[in-house]
Amino acid sequence: MSVTRRGGRAAALPVVIILACGWFLFVQFRHLADFSILGLAPAPPPSPPDAPVEIVLASLKRESTSWVHQYLPDWGRSVYVVDDPKANLRVPKNKGREAMVYLTHIIDRYDTLANVTVFAHASRFAWHNDDPDYDAVRTLRRLKLDYVEATGYVNLRCALTLGCPAEIKPHVDAQGPEVSITTTKQVYRQAFRELMPGLEVPVAVGVSCCSQFAVSRDTIHRWSLERWTRWRDWLLKTPLPDDISGRVLEYTWHIIFGKEAIFCPRPADCYCKAFGLCDLKCDEHQCDGRYVLPPYASLPPGWPKVGWKGEARNISGPS
Ligand SMILES: *[C@@H]1O[C@H](CO)[C@@H](O)[C@H](O)[C@H]1NC(C)=O
Ligand SMILES: *[C@@H]1O[C@H](CO)[C@@H](O)[C@H](O)[C@H]1NC(C)=O
Repeated sequence: MSVTRRGGRAAALPVVIILACGWFLFVQFRHLADFSILGLAPAPPPSPPDAPVEIVLASLKRESTSWVHQYLPDWGRSVYVVDDPKANLRVPKNKGREAMVYLTHIIDRYDTLANVTVFAHASRFAWHNDDPDYDAVRTLRRLKLDYVEATGYVNLRCALTLGCPAEIKPHVDAQGPEVSITTTKQVYRQAFRELMPGLEVPVAVGVSCCSQFAVSRDTIHRWSLERWTRWRDWLLKTPLPDDISGRVLEYTWHIIFGKEAIFCPRPADCYCKAFGLCDLKCDEHQCDGRYVLPPYASLPPGWPKVGWKGEARNISGPS
């Protein structure tokens, strides 16, 4: 009896050591392994400190953001998960789409912002990304940070297809036949008055769509922390539906960041200065081989390796 028990205790020691080593290795190297088959997302490596550029992502729990540390390893990153109360970075309320994330980052990090902050959505591939594959990675890798610092605000889209030249005519649109809170155009004038008191409501507002842009710290600091907080309070309190309040801000960010109400630079200039693509063949509206409006707003399953008709396609960016 007693012999067996002693033997059991002696055998337990190596087991404990093996378990401890296993745990140590797991904690050290878990970000290198792919646990997705177990339903576990690998933990990302820590965000590099003091990076000159930081990307802020507005994400949902189900979205994967591993492409950022995989393909932009030198970039700082703040991934906000709006529907996960256990996420590291959260928002006070899941309201106003990506706008709540952007405002929360600016408020929480007002004194420790990177030289350049890129505000973006969580998916690497999205129908509105200005790239032939709709790939955010290639666009972001090309972004000229010096230019962002010099000009203050850069839209991540140079394509003018949606939002330009004048998406909203606030005064005309406010007087549509049925003024309702269901379209951005109709509510824009009133919302603008609430957001920018004392500023005249512009006659027309145009900016390339979809709320992804890069901004310098100085540009964010044009407004006080108190002012940023008031904008987020507006978002928290507005009775407008989520998508509408988010879209009101989508068409206001560039004005907040110091650009004219109509900010639709010529695509040739935009691609060259902001992304170093200076040899494109362009007219006033578009450049050959760049963005084309996709047939549907959701990319097909398997994109970018599978096309719209189920055909195999080659990806130009890293895969
Ligand atoms: C940010 O910009 C300042 C001045 O423009 C520069 O001195 C500093 O090195 C930059 N910070 C980083 C982390 O690159
Ligand atoms: C993809 O690239 C390979 C190798 O360059 C080529 O052989 C193939 O035809 C390409 N496929 C498509 C669909 O373009």
